[in-house]
Amino acid sequence: MTDLSILASPREASIAASAPPGAPDLRQLIAGLGSLDVVETPADELSAQLDEILRGAAAATSARLGSLYVIEQDVLRRVSTTGGNAPACACDRPESDEPWAHCEVLAHVAGTCSVLNLDDVGNLLPGTPDRVARFLRGFQCPRVVSLLAAPIVGPQGEAVGVLELLDSRGVDEQPRPFPPFSEVVVRALAGQAGTVISHAQLAAKLQEAQFETVFRLSMAAEYRDTDTAAHIQRMSRYTEVIAQNLGLSARDVQLARLASPMHDVGKLGIPDAILLKPGKLTEEEWHIMKSHTTMGARILSGSDSPVLQASEQVALTHHEKVDGTGYPVGLRGEEIPLLGRMAAVADAFDAVTSRRCYKEARSLEEGLAVIRGDAGSHFDPECAEALERGFEQVKRIYELFADPEEALAPRSFNGLLPLVG
Ligand SMILES: [Fe+2]
Ligand SMILES: [Fe+2]
Repeated sequence: MTDLSILASPREASIAASAPPGAPDLRQLIAGLGSLDVVETPADELSAQLDEILRGAAAATSARLGSLYVIEQDVLRRVSTTGGNAPACACDRPESDEPWAHCEVLAHVAGTCSVLNLDDVGNLLPGTPDRVARFLRGFQCPRVVSLLAAPIVGPQGEAVGVLELLDSRGVDEQPRPFPPFSEVVVRALAGQAGTVISHAQLAAKLQEAQFETVFRLSMAAEYRDTDTAAHIQRMSRYTEVIAQNLGLSARDVQLARLASPMHDVGKLGIPDAILLKPGKLTEEEWHIMKSHTTMGARILSGSDSPVLQASEQVALTHHEKVDGTGYPVGLRGEEIPLLGRMAAVADAFDAVTSRRCYKEARSLEEGLAVIRGDAGSHFDPECAEALERGFEQVKRIYELFADPEEALAPRSFNGLLPLVG
């Protein structure tokens, strides 16, 4: 099995470009999403950078122990430590989710955005801030002598974390007060940590906002005929399961999950009279219905974003069948991009196992049997097997993204709907 680098063939591309008129003009919206991309393990990358900063600070000041905390929703969360079996902070209490509670020392540093440099936490000098003094006198902390903590400051001047070092050591390895230059070093490194954290937070926020837009667009298309957003949630997660069980890279797995919700975005361009028509479609109507693939691809085309390029492939090819009897082109086997083959299995599996106002749901086992039965004709056998290998994950997804009951109530037309996935 290959990766997702299979690009749409020129034949497919020309189909997308010549899609029938009527697709809503969403190009501006799509263009506004910029270079929407999968961020590769952003948490790992961030924590590696913060580890390096903390290690640098500890080495420069000969600190025995160090911790770096990030403030998340008013909670200080320790994200990095150095020096082995470090206590959570100077007070050696276990971490807590309670806002600011686990150590008043850190709370003081973050709250006042000021550096705290204590020569001996068990023998405080006059001038120690009251809050800190009250807290440190309240318990014995025999393992720690000196403490240096600096706020990590974000772009607006607010604390986004704390860098804390404990027990500077002299050449005799005995704890000593932090040397005077230490404050300068720690301020500089905390500043660097602030830039790294703010960058990561901004990138995460931007990505979240972009995916929110993509997801809402997908929902707009989905609501037209199924009344439930849960279908795209499940379908996208099932696609992810298939990608994982095909052994694709973490990036491609994420790409498959993010791109697949857009598979039916072209339905935005299908008139209600056809999309919601009870009963059988005429040949002409069916022809228009099938164009939701090319219209979707047209809506999503021309973007620099890897996610939207992948979405374009999914939209265009999710109704192709490996025996060449699908639409819009009739591609066969591996002529169909892998994304399209994975999405076809996930989409059909969810359609079979979901209740709609015109049909009852079949069990997950029955759904799997349907996919298995059509492997080699409709579905790529490897994708079908990958779904089967991930069946335990599939069951969890099904429970997690269940349809809300009210979404399943019969609607006013209460008739048969064409099942197009
Ligand atoms: Fe579709
Ligand atoms: Fe679908």
